[in-house]
Amino acid sequence: RFRAAVAAATRVVPGPNRHQTPDRVPEGPGFTWSTDSDPALPVNRAWARDVAAAMPGCRLGTTTLNTHRVETADQVDAAVATALGAAPGWAEAGASARADVLYRVAAELARRRGDLLAVAGHETGKVFEQGDVEVSEAIDFADWYAEQAGLLEQVDGARYVPARVSVVAPPWNFPLAITTGSTLAPLATGSAVILKPAPQARQCAAVIAECMWAAGVPREVLQLVDAGEGEAGRRLISHPDVDRVILTGAHDTAKLFRSWRPDLPLLAETSGKNAIIVTENGDYDLAAADIIASAFGHAGQKCSAASLVILVGQAYRSKRLRTQIIDAAASLRVGGPEDLTTQLGPVIEPAAGKLLDGLTRLDPGQNWALEPRRLDESGRFWSPGIRAGVRAGDRYHFTEYFGPVTGIMYAPDLATAVAYQNGTEYGLTAGLHSLDPEEISWWCDHVNAGNLYVNRGITGAIVGRQPFGGWKKSAVGPGAKAGGPNYLAVLGGWEPIAPVA
Ligand code: ALA
Repeated sequence: RFRAAVAAATRVVPGPNRHQTPDRVPEGPGFTWSTDSDPALPVNRAWARDVAAAMPGCRLGTTTLNTHRVETADQVDAAVATALGAAPGWAEAGASARADVLYRVAAELARRRGDLLAVAGHETGKVFEQGDVEVSEAIDFADWYAEQAGLLEQVDGARYVPARVSVVAPPWNFPLAITTGSTLAPLATGSAVILKPAPQARQCAAVIAECMWAAGVPREVLQLVDAGEGEAGRRLISHPDVDRVILTGAHDTAKLFRSWRPDLPLLAETSGKNAIIVTENGDYDLAAADIIASAFGHAGQKCSAASLVILVGQAYRSKRLRTQIIDAAASLRVGGPEDLTTQLGPVIEPAAGKLLDGLTRLDPGQNWALEPRRLDESGRFWSPGIRAGVRAGDRYHFTEYFGPVTGIMYAPDLATAVAYQNGTEYGLTAGLHSLDPEEISWWCDHVNAGNLYVNRGITGAIVGRQPFGGWKKSAVGPGAKAGGPNYLAVLGGWEPIAPVA
């Protein structure tokens, strides 16, 4: 019934990324590209089919250097020593030489767009259209940090001192964009990098590292070290010659890293519990589409996802808005990424523990506006869930479940809604749907989150335009935003030099 809302929420539009899916894809490794384009699809249909066909069982990372599991502290020490030896040469090469390499990384990522989509689909279940946006974002990161590196070199009267060795620990949920961005940023400043892949997305990291090596990043400057969370992982994070760790992941992972090394220089982007408020002055059609996209994109497995919807006054009482949200969610097509019509993919692992609770157990007083259903034996495929009657202080109000479930709260006025929105320990993304300029301005002044979105979805920050990062428990460290103008300077560390008398 609300197909238009669903379509608006899930289609690939020529979005704000600077780099878009090309109409025609050049020949690349792994695929023979076809060129019979279909105007009904934003991307070449035959190309998409080729990518989907390659997903089952694909192993695209062909690199042999350091992609094997690293099990012992000695192996980690050897990798850190290699990085330490390579760091001065990379730092001395100069920012513009490094920027040239990053521009070539951008071209290499574009050339391997199909490989990246296939491997992300295979490893993490990311559906084609959502992976495609990630590739565009990864390319944007490469270009943006290249430009920013060039600017760093031009600043007079100050210098930045790159970390010698940075460890990058990216997440599995954005295995392309965040892996690329958080690896390229320290590389751009002149630091050597040890990339420690997320265990669920090793092959994604391997293909990305291949792109970087092919573009001219020396293999000693960027090493892929699959150290896991055991003895080797612990040694890597706590190694005294590691100057900086850049983590994107759960807040508990940041705590674990800190417990391994209390003085760890950590720059971490961590969890979120984010809400979209809709006031009586909101555009309900737009709000419904944005809620669906923000709550159920990548099966809700985003730190930026909308896992709370706070409806103010008449917006809560609007049967039309409520029906629209529920029907749109119910009509999402759940499936695997190899089916190009899938809108809601699988969760990364069989739902268990906290996520299983989120999908099956209501807090007292709540009910299901849309009850999630387990769709097969694997425990990875779930239809979306919407809780009704979530109240301030409920467990659901405060807990990040990281899956395809959201919850509706009632607030009598905007001030109360903002108190609920701010009431969690986190502060990553926050949204408001209102067409009233006074409400918008009041909200902007009172909401506590890193990324604020008015009358749009609350996921999908844009490199250079909407740098991404949070505060409170959503960030650890200096709090610089990825894809923002000061990220490299913060990573590099500014050292103002007093003018010589
Ligand atoms: N950067 C990702 C987003 O904005 C996490 O959704």
